[in-house]
Amino acid sequence: MSKLWGGRFTKQTDELVEQYTASITFDKKMAEEDIQGSLAHIAMLGRCGIVPQQDADRIKDGLLQVLALIQAGQMEYSVSDEDIHMNIEKKLIELIGPVGGKLHTGRSRNDQVATDMHLYLRKHVVQFVELLGNVQEALITQAKENIDTIIPGYTHLQRAQPILFAHHLLAYVSMFERDIERLKDSYKRINTLPLGAGALAGTTFPIDRHFVAEQLGFERIYENSLDAVSDRDFIVEFLANASLIMTHLSRLCEELVLWSSTEFQFIELDDAFCTGSSIMPQKKNPDVPELVRGKTGRVYGNLIGMLTVLKALPLAYNKDMQEDKEGMFDTVATLDGALRLFAPMIATMKVNRARMRQAVNQDFSNATDIADFLVNKGLPFRQAHEVIGKTVLYCIQKGVYLLDLSLEEFQQFSPLFDEKIYDVLQPEQVVNARNVYGGTAKPQVEAAIVRAAEALQVT
Ligand code: ARG
Repeated sequence: MSKLWGGRFTKQTDELVEQYTASITFDKKMAEEDIQGSLAHIAMLGRCGIVPQQDADRIKDGLLQVLALIQAGQMEYSVSDEDIHMNIEKKLIELIGPVGGKLHTGRSRNDQVATDMHLYLRKHVVQFVELLGNVQEALITQAKENIDTIIPGYTHLQRAQPILFAHHLLAYVSMFERDIERLKDSYKRINTLPLGAGALAGTTFPIDRHFVAEQLGFERIYENSLDAVSDRDFIVEFLANASLIMTHLSRLCEELVLWSSTEFQFIELDDAFCTGSSIMPQKKNPDVPELVRGKTGRVYGNLIGMLTVLKALPLAYNKDMQEDKEGMFDTVATLDGALRLFAPMIATMKVNRARMRQAVNQDFSNATDIADFLVNKGLPFRQAHEVIGKTVLYCIQKGVYLLDLSLEEFQQFSPLFDEKIYDVLQPEQVVNARNVYGGTAKPQVEAAIVRAAEALQVT
């Protein structure tokens, strides 16, 4: 059979042109969505009397046969049929005869492809919300198990103030919560029906777009036919949301890589999530977090790529828009892979509490608290800062930490010091002193865990 659009042409398409313009090699990913859209369309054509009901029924049966072939992996695709839409239509006609040609009544590939992509993304966004929830759950479980584990908190990657490890993990739970919120918000825009826009201007047939929307579970219908076939905002938005999710994952990955180094030894990733070196027998490499960190780049690239395709495109459909798919598919696959690995990787991660404690005991991250101690005794903060700066310098020169100093030594720097300073300097004390909403004190973190777990139930 020749091209579905062959009538206007007197020559065969150049073979290189066929290969260059075809999208079937990648858009076959939307085969099931394409059938889903066609089933709703033909149901509407039958119901509205645009196609006799009997023909609509035969087309429905034919589409279900094609679906069965697709699901059995027996559908053969051909580059000369360009894309998924024409491959399926051609197969339909092959199976049920010329009546199959009635399916495309009142429809264009332009509103068809947009509909397929909305259906495809809708399915995946729902999955991503769930997968992000699993990552949050793994983090919350680790947080619960580490409600008494103190680590140095960092700024500039320099020891700053001690914090609960649980508090650190919950920071990521909050980031993923915003990611979930963003995906959910984008859902209403994804869940909008383009079908019925025709090629660009609508159709001469008395179609019922609301019926199609209802059949496909779309909450809304595109208001404007030109916009319906030209809009790829929903893909840009998804790629932007995916980019932020990857940013968050990548920041955590960086910390996992650092923490599992010999220099830190704060955590150990499970053997099942690491790989070895082909030459150095001692190596256990954190390949998974490294690769997630690395793959973040391609997701950003896909976002910039899509924005660039759209920039300056005149209305309505242009073939440029076929470039919307590979970046989206790649992003879906990249995000899916990362999120599926992340939850079990976090859940099986071992926390080296002894090593964390050792780190906290051997630093000056309690220095702010002695400054605050002097402030509570009436010294202006700026002066207290200066006094403690000198005290820390003295310790560094002597090769000791603040808790190693005698009271006499403390008093050389300020007569305001007394015995109580030794309590104030204890890491638990330092942590629990930050007893403000959102702070690292144990009761605050316990409450935050409860809130995060509750939010997870709602999700
Ligand atoms: N494969 C095409 C795409 O992905 C489908 C739409 C084709 N429409 C057209 N007018 N050539 O963009």
